[in-house]
Amino acid sequence: MRIVIIGFRGQLGNDIAESFGSDGDNEVLEISGPDIAQPGDTTCDITDRDQLFDTVRPFGPDRIFNCAAFTQVDACENDADSAFMVNVVGVVNIADLAKECESELIHFSTDYVFNGKKDEPYTEDDAPDPLNIYGASKLAGELALKRRLQKHFLFRVSGLYGVAGSLSKGDNFVETMIRLGKEKGSVRVVADQRLAPTFTADLAEKVIEVADTGKYGLYHLAASGDCSWFEFAKEIFSLTGMEVDCGPQSTAESGRKANRPPYSVLSSKKLDELGIKPIRHWREGLADYLKRKGHI
Ligand SMILES: NC(=O)c1ccc[n+]([C@@H]2O[C@H](COP(=O)([O-])OP(=O)(O)OC[C@H]3O[C@@H](n4cnc5c(N)ncnc54)[C@H](OP(=O)(O)O)[C@@H]3O)[C@@H](O)[C@H]2O)c1
Repeated sequence: MRIVIIGFRGQLGNDIAESFGSDGDNEVLEISGPDIAQPGDTTCDITDRDQLFDTVRPFGPDRIFNCAAFTQVDACENDADSAFMVNVVGVVNIADLAKECESELIHFSTDYVFNGKKDEPYTEDDAPDPLNIYGASKLAGELALKRRLQKHFLFRVSGLYGVAGSLSKGDNFVETMIRLGKEKGSVRVVADQRLAPTFTADLAEKVIEVADTGKYGLYHLAASGDCSWFEFAKEIFSLTGMEVDCGPQSTAESGRKANRPPYSVLSSKKLDELGIKPIRHWREGLADYLKRKGHI
């Protein structure tokens, strides 16, 4: 199979790329974004339609992963133009490219398409109602994809952290907690938002398993269990044995620019219909991540 991974230097893109690293059956074209490219990378801006088509078309893909997105939730509030350019126009370009190449497309969206008023896990049948620009742009990207390309998988995912770290965001939540714990010895963490934080290596494995079924459509995919960011931080300090004064804070106290849903746990039950096991519990994913990063 000829596989293209767009945004391969992002957290999730990196683990998708790793999954194909030693797989001799596939030919893989990895494409990085315009800002965090390394020397020798093939780069492409997905908002530049001609550049995108010229870069990918000659390769003749069978499957395209779009892991590129404008993911900085607070920055989106001040820069809606860029959020919609990358998260909607970029998706339109990639969907049209996939159609022309007769390729399937695997795309990612977010738990932040929901308003968080539920108190049980969101299913694929629940109506989106985003609270912030990022969520609105990702939802618009979903709709554009559905209208333009039948051969697609759309995965809504949640609270990602990966070994590669998020170069565009600075770092992921786990690394930020460890750094702040070391530097300050004391952190306050939001306790009134519940989600299912997900290790991107776990996610990458499951995404490929679902894609290999050929059953196109929308899927929620997140780690099992749920927690608040505060509980997640406490587990990070407990597993690493760090002595940190870790206390709760409210969303209002955190002073973040973008509104966030108080509850955005995703139900991965649709995997049952495919006979695929859910992703392991977030605590197991976290422990594995910390080991792989050498923190424990
Ligand atoms: N992170 C989370 O907690 C989370 C939660 C829910 C859903 N998601 C979704 O999951 C997917 C993967 O997220 P992630 O955390 O792995 O993202 P990430 O680490 O922030 O990486 C995103 C990548 O997109 C690239 N990119 C941005 N603008 C681009 C453009 N115009 N053209 C080409 N590439 C561009 C960036 O490269 P440059 O910096 O070089 O431009 C970067 O490598 C995204 O669809 C995201 O919306 C993430």
